[in-house]
Amino acid sequence: MTSLPFDDRDGVIWLDGALVPWREARLHVLSHGLHYGGGVFEGERVYAGQPFKLTEHSRRLHASALELGFRIPFGVAELDQATREVVRRQGITDGYVRPVAWRGSEQISVSGAGTSVHVAIAAWEWPHVFTAEAQTRGIRLGTSRWRRPAPDTAPVRAKAASLYNICTLARDAAEADGYDDALLLDFRGQLAEATGANLFLVIDGELHTPIADTFLDGITRQSVIALAHELGIAVHERHLAPEELARAEEVFLTGTAYEVQPVRAVDDREYQVGKVTRALSEAYLRLVHA
Ligand SMILES: Cc1ncc(COP(=O)(O)O)c(C=O)c1O
Repeated sequence: MTSLPFDDRDGVIWLDGALVPWREARLHVLSHGLHYGGGVFEGERVYAGQPFKLTEHSRRLHASALELGFRIPFGVAELDQATREVVRRQGITDGYVRPVAWRGSEQISVSGAGTSVHVAIAAWEWPHVFTAEAQTRGIRLGTSRWRRPAPDTAPVRAKAASLYNICTLARDAAEADGYDDALLLDFRGQLAEATGANLFLVIDGELHTPIADTFLDGITRQSVIALAHELGIAVHERHLAPEELARAEEVFLTGTAYEVQPVRAVDDREYQVGKVTRALSEAYLRLVHA
């Protein structure tokens, strides 16, 4: 797939409090965030010109930064307002927003003390993650050799750029093996999530999803759990062994970019896109367009 490089596009990006021409939104090569992984980000979907659950995402950006030991120098309301401005200026109706914050260039050493914190917000038209066919028929996951780390090994609750090393390695390996995405286990060997989305199994018509103690408790995951309650579908958050995949009738993923994404295979095991996945997918689409 060819698309314009992300540093060579028209429009504006919000950078540290002001809108700047897209191509001028740069950082220095000696930025602490680049060298030592001091960066956090968000991914937001815009539906009909409105960023979905915007304040939840702005709050999570703040919380992620605190997990990494730094503070975002703009309030949640300021980030919300900046995001709306960027979306409006870019003329986005169906799109994606990427807020990112990182430690600056005051020092290049392991210590992050005294580094400034920079924030940028960019928005662009929505590029679909999977093909239309994969979206409806389901995607294929390959189990990765990479695992989600323990909460005392990495800041697992943060949407931290540094944690995406694992996701990129897993995703690239899965694609090289002919899968659409990777399924990651956690450090205990329990089911965790995909590279950019949370995991749900349907067993006997009820939802089972791993406890979010080694990975991001997705905003979509929370929305889908609430929708399941509204639809009278029981939800069990618990540790799930990989063997439980054999008991599942349906498997799906949730995420801002994935929405409710059916899974049609995990390794050699195949699944139907069943009625629970369909009901939640439809309910989620109604919610985001409400
Ligand atoms: C690793 C990972 N897990 C889960 C999610 C789902 O989170 P959300 O529903 O908030 O987009 C994402 C996407 O942000 C992610 O990157």
